[in-house]
Amino acid sequence: MMIDVPLEKWADRLESVISSKCRDLKRVFVLRETDSTQDAAKRMDAQPGDVITTFRQTAGRGRLGRDWMDTEEYGVAVTIATLPCPGELLALQYAIAVARSAESILNQQVQIKWPNDILVDGRKLAGILIEQSSTRALAGIGINVSQTSWPDELVDQAVSFSQLGASVDRIEVLETLLPSIERALTADAEVIALEFEKRDVLTGSNATFKRPNGTIQGKVVRIDPLKGLVVNSGSKEIFLPAATTSIVSHSAE
Ligand code: BTN
Repeated sequence: MMIDVPLEKWADRLESVISSKCRDLKRVFVLRETDSTQDAAKRMDAQPGDVITTFRQTAGRGRLGRDWMDTEEYGVAVTIATLPCPGELLALQYAIAVARSAESILNQQVQIKWPNDILVDGRKLAGILIEQSSTRALAGIGINVSQTSWPDELVDQAVSFSQLGASVDRIEVLETLLPSIERALTADAEVIALEFEKRDVLTGSNATFKRPNGTIQGKVVRIDPLKGLVVNSGSKEIFLPAATTSIVSHSAE
């Protein structure tokens, strides 16, 4: 079994990455253990450019009130603070950042299930939760790194780098991820939309979505970087925002 790089070395390694490769990411905070890096970021009043990560996250949150499993010493949990960004672009930028960094580790293309699931062969390698206020956006990223087993309910749904044959340390995953985030956050919306399209598993499928005011069915037409998912439902096109929409089911036509 791989020996994790000790916590004491994380801060120096990550500071070295952001000082040499990142302009907009400025400070790194490494916590020994925390409930959720999103909540830790709020408690410490994280400022744009702050990166908060932890050796162990015990009560992580997923999108739409779901749980994110205790990372123990197997997963990456990190939150990035930036200025808020109206529209849907931030969700796509972070998805591309995580996808590209995973691809550089795996040497293969990954898929993205809108808005923020990073998949390999249909199983989830990483998830992203974006929470915005009027002053700050917090993007929380969870990546499965060295898990070799899962609870029964996740066996068919989750996968780690280890299970995909990539023997990589969590700190190396973070070192690859941070410059990739910097690059995606400064890319043009058109480039991000094209990069998303290459990896998108939803466009063209028939899907059922849950929204606060009920469910809706339709064919996914495209992902719009500013307006969200575009669905043809009956005779009209509607836009579904990432923050309030979940996918109940989808199938290729
Ligand atoms: C999802 O797939 O629904 C999103 C999962 C996001 C999990 C990450 S782990 C780091 C950050 N802290 C949290 O509590 N959640 C996010």
